[in-house]
Amino acid sequence: MEKMRLQKYMAYGGIASRRKCEEIIAQGRVTVNGVTVTEPGTVVSPDDVVKVDGKAVAIKNEKIYIILNKPSGYITTVSDDRNRKTVMDLVKGAGERLYPVGRLDKDTEGLLLFTNDGDFHLYMTHPSKEVDKEYIAKIDGRITEETKKRFKQGFHIDGSMTAPAEIFEDSQQGDSSFVRIIIHEGKKRQVKRMLQECGFRTLYLKRIRIGSVLLGDLPKGKWRHLTKQELRSLGYLKKE
Ligand code: URA
Repeated sequence: MEKMRLQKYMAYGGIASRRKCEEIIAQGRVTVNGVTVTEPGTVVSPDDVVKVDGKAVAIKNEKIYIILNKPSGYITTVSDDRNRKTVMDLVKGAGERLYPVGRLDKDTEGLLLFTNDGDFHLYMTHPSKEVDKEYIAKIDGRITEETKKRFKQGFHIDGSMTAPAEIFEDSQQGDSSFVRIIIHEGKKRQVKRMLQECGFRTLYLKRIRIGSVLLGDLPKGKWRHLTKQELRSLGYLKKE
């Protein structure tokens, strides 16, 4: 748990709303490490002992893991100074201090994970972790054997080579086609840039899988908790 203002700490501890906690602090009912504190802005850390009316505040440090089916039109950020729609608008009520694991472009749909567990975030985004990410894309043409070869060989993106990737054609629609792409990293706009390198424009992009976690039939804009089984299959929870 990071350092935070006293009223926020108390609110997390289930004492009352932050506003109400400010009043309780001002009333001189709160001690930090045995010393009465009346200043709501006081910053406390996990090692501090906070008591209200002599009773210790217990912080529930519940770890949360969420899967969202992100619709197009939302940017992947925790806050936006231009007041645009963000993915955080879609997981309100799922828990405090959540943040996205990796990112999807504003116009990309599909599977986006969230957590409040820093270890999980690090685990999932570490370059050594070669977890598959599977996408469906609509492109303005049809792939060839050469495209498949280039995806396998990798592309020079952001100063390094991408890991071998795969691309398959799913179906054809007039001059366009639907392809399925499996990559192993999360470089910025990676799929679109790989397709662009092969001369294609991405008309639609959706992530449908990360490792063994499938988007499935989760409705657009909705979220659910990851199951223990899913966390285990990502290699994050030890087998019992
Ligand atoms: N690759 C992209 O180009 N965009 C995304 O949103 C995700 C992967």
